[in-house]
Amino acid sequence: MDNYASFFDKIRGAIQQDVFVKISLGDYNGTELYLKNVYIKPVVIKREKKLSFVFRYKTQDITQNFEIATGIMEIQGLLQVEGFRVATLFTETENIVCQLSKKGTWLLRKEDPTAKRPVALTHDKQKERKLDSFGKIYLQALKLTDAEGKVYKNAQDKWKQINHYIEILSSILQRLPPKDRLNVVDMGAGKGYLTFALYDYLVHTLKKQTDLVGVEYRNDLVALCNQIAQKSGFNELRFMQGAIEDYQPQGDLDVLIALHACDTATDDAIAKGIKHDADLIVVAPCCHKQIRREIEKNKAKNELDFLLKHGIFMERQAEMVTDGLRALILEYFGYQTKVFQFISDTHTPKNVLIVGERRPIDTQKQQEILMKIKSTKTYFGISSHHLEGLLNIA
Ligand SMILES: C[S@@+](CC[C@H](N)C(=O)[O-])C[C@H]1O[C@@H](n2cnc3c(N)ncnc32)[C@H](O)[C@@H]1O
Repeated sequence: MDNYASFFDKIRGAIQQDVFVKISLGDYNGTELYLKNVYIKPVVIKREKKLSFVFRYKTQDITQNFEIATGIMEIQGLLQVEGFRVATLFTETENIVCQLSKKGTWLLRKEDPTAKRPVALTHDKQKERKLDSFGKIYLQALKLTDAEGKVYKNAQDKWKQINHYIEILSSILQRLPPKDRLNVVDMGAGKGYLTFALYDYLVHTLKKQTDLVGVEYRNDLVALCNQIAQKSGFNELRFMQGAIEDYQPQGDLDVLIALHACDTATDDAIAKGIKHDADLIVVAPCCHKQIRREIEKNKAKNELDFLLKHGIFMERQAEMVTDGLRALILEYFGYQTKVFQFISDTHTPKNVLIVGERRPIDTQKQQEILMKIKSTKTYFGISSHHLEGLLNIA
């Protein structure tokens, strides 16, 4: 075997034996004006080993990743065709220099090892998560992780969504007025993914004493969630069967959450939060039938007719008007309100989050807001928004 072939044999062997550290190519004599070197190292991308190439130019680096076999072919091309005349393979056990001689033959030289492999090869760095998945009974019980805390492949999206939700809430929760105990309610808790995560974060990360109630129509989910809460030792987390509209909080609320509660159930939840002086109200509205029906029924004439005759635009408009009015009503009651996209719409189209943080009421502003609500309703032909009715501001 000639030196050149044996050099590539060494590369393949080093990769197979997991002692490969890097390769550098130099002494460039090709046609690319500013190309100086190429550095190649192993990376793991989406759990697959690859070769990452950094093409170093005079003023910039360009990175490209290749499958192992394609990457090795690329190195061959760079040496034989492109004009690099020296390649050094760094492994944990030896360095091998492969150099083109003046006579045009490849020479091989072995040297002592000089480089160590980095501890982790992972290229797409694990995102730092707000919640740890290890040792969490609720995550196992909800079938998101195995007993070791490893998130199942088919639960990755849900896990990402849970962490993103906690990430969004974390800074807002830390702004809450100081209290010995927090009273939190999650309206329409469903299977409790986000409810458990929120309790876990508040109690174990922020170290806040917290009473959290999940309100849910479905008996089976309530029973399941209570069982998991008990098994997890989450003593101040309980789930109650019932309708959002009927739930009567004991005293003031600190935080009210309602994620994906259908149609006017979101209004029922917001109204409970406002009436019970919640410092923080967070809702992710779901469907927007009430206002859509109003707009369609009353057929007000306005400049948007050319848009609203199309069903899809009507649906989007109804969503915006419903949630825009919700935000205005929250502002009327002093809440500083933000509306933003919560998760990417590749996960779910129900991805708008309305966050209201309670501030003192500004009575002058209230009048302006009332006028705005009134003119918006007239413009779209809405006789009443469900939330106004609940709060008697119509
Ligand atoms: C789409 S799921 C969302 C669950 C959870 N909040 C989440 O985002 O993962 C909506 C849940 O709210 C419950 N729900 C809807 N309207 C409700 C109401 N008016 N009262 C109580 N529960 C309600 C449903 O039974 C369902 O479990």
